[in-house]
Amino acid sequence: METYDIAVIPGDGIGTEVTSAAMEVLDTVAENHGFQLERSTYDWGTERYLDEGAMMPDDGLDRIESADSIFLGAVGHPEVPDHVTLNGLLLPIRKGFDQYICKRPNKLFEGIESPLRGYEAGDIDLVVYRENTEGEYANVGGREHRGFSNEVAVQSGLFTRKGTERIVRSAFEAATEREGHLTSITKSNAQAHSMVFWDDIVKEVSEDFPEVEVDSLLVDRASMDLVRRPEEFDVVVASNLFGDISTDIAAIITGSLGLAPSGNINEENDYPDMFEPVHGSAPDIVGQGIANPLASILTGAMMFEYLGDGKEAAAEDIWNAVEAQLADESAPRTPDLGGDAKTVDVVSDLSDRL
Ligand code: NAI
Ligand code: MG
Repeated sequence: METYDIAVIPGDGIGTEVTSAAMEVLDTVAENHGFQLERSTYDWGTERYLDEGAMMPDDGLDRIESADSIFLGAVGHPEVPDHVTLNGLLLPIRKGFDQYICKRPNKLFEGIESPLRGYEAGDIDLVVYRENTEGEYANVGGREHRGFSNEVAVQSGLFTRKGTERIVRSAFEAATEREGHLTSITKSNAQAHSMVFWDDIVKEVSEDFPEVEVDSLLVDRASMDLVRRPEEFDVVVASNLFGDISTDIAAIITGSLGLAPSGNINEENDYPDMFEPVHGSAPDIVGQGIANPLASILTGAMMFEYLGDGKEAAAEDIWNAVEAQLADESAPRTPDLGGDAKTVDVVSDLSDRL
């Protein structure tokens, strides 16, 4: 049988809960479609950091490089600073495997109430292409004169032509495929170097996509419009920081972080992609068995879309089953969606539908 090697990193908090839930569903769907997942599970994360002083081993990337894909839960622990967990595991994988596209789709499903008044299923349907390897999250800078009154911190944004061009091009391609339009989010009024450079690149690349309508919004205005008129967004392209913020807004206007999937993609397939839900380790609900597994399950659907030939049908089955479950008033739902079901109830209902 066709077999795919998946490196699974459940990570911290509810990451482990939603990952095992998702794996159960993915196995069912794979079986239905005549392929299987061969999983290697890695116990990397904060427990390891507290025991051994590192989130993952030194040769961590080498160990997972040959996988067909990487599936991650979440990282983050109340007792360890977030920059340690993020820089110890997530960012090294995204950067080390040159996963320059962070793709985050958001859709308002039937049966889900948006916190925005008057929005119905299908009204919101957008996808954010977030630059994932440089920009504001480049590890460039430092701190000097620590503890003195002249202490100084410098953090520089890093925008390269290659890095900017490839994310912008991918977003244009997505807009072409969706027969939609593109919104580029910047802050060119205040950041006259990096963001005007970004605008220039958008303009250059747009010449190769004459059929795609493109507009540009400043990030503050874009944040307002994502709340005020989200129906006007289709494909969005943004730098690392602006994409990070916009995707949390996009996730919450479509109901819950518990529904938002994401993929970190190296389009050239030089390295494996990594798929993970948008949400974090949710320490406030960990251990209660009530984490919504749907973000992680839809993340699995995204993974299938990128696994290779003919896996789109498997992905579509997952999207359809989730949509049907959410539209069904009698189906179990977790507390973040206003229900009182457990993670396992959602999984077993979904498995029946599949
Ligand atoms: P969070 O996403 O963990 O939680 C935000 C809120 O949404 C919480 O109230 C949580 O209970 C709820 N929530 C999130 N996912 C849910 C799900 N699947 N089902 C039901 N409710 C859900 O973000 P927060 O609280 O800012 O961060 C907590 C930790 O997670 C921090 O250590 C942070 O650094 C880390 N984090 C990690 C990320 C990752 O691994 N990609 C992303 C975001 C945060
Ligand atoms: Mg974020």
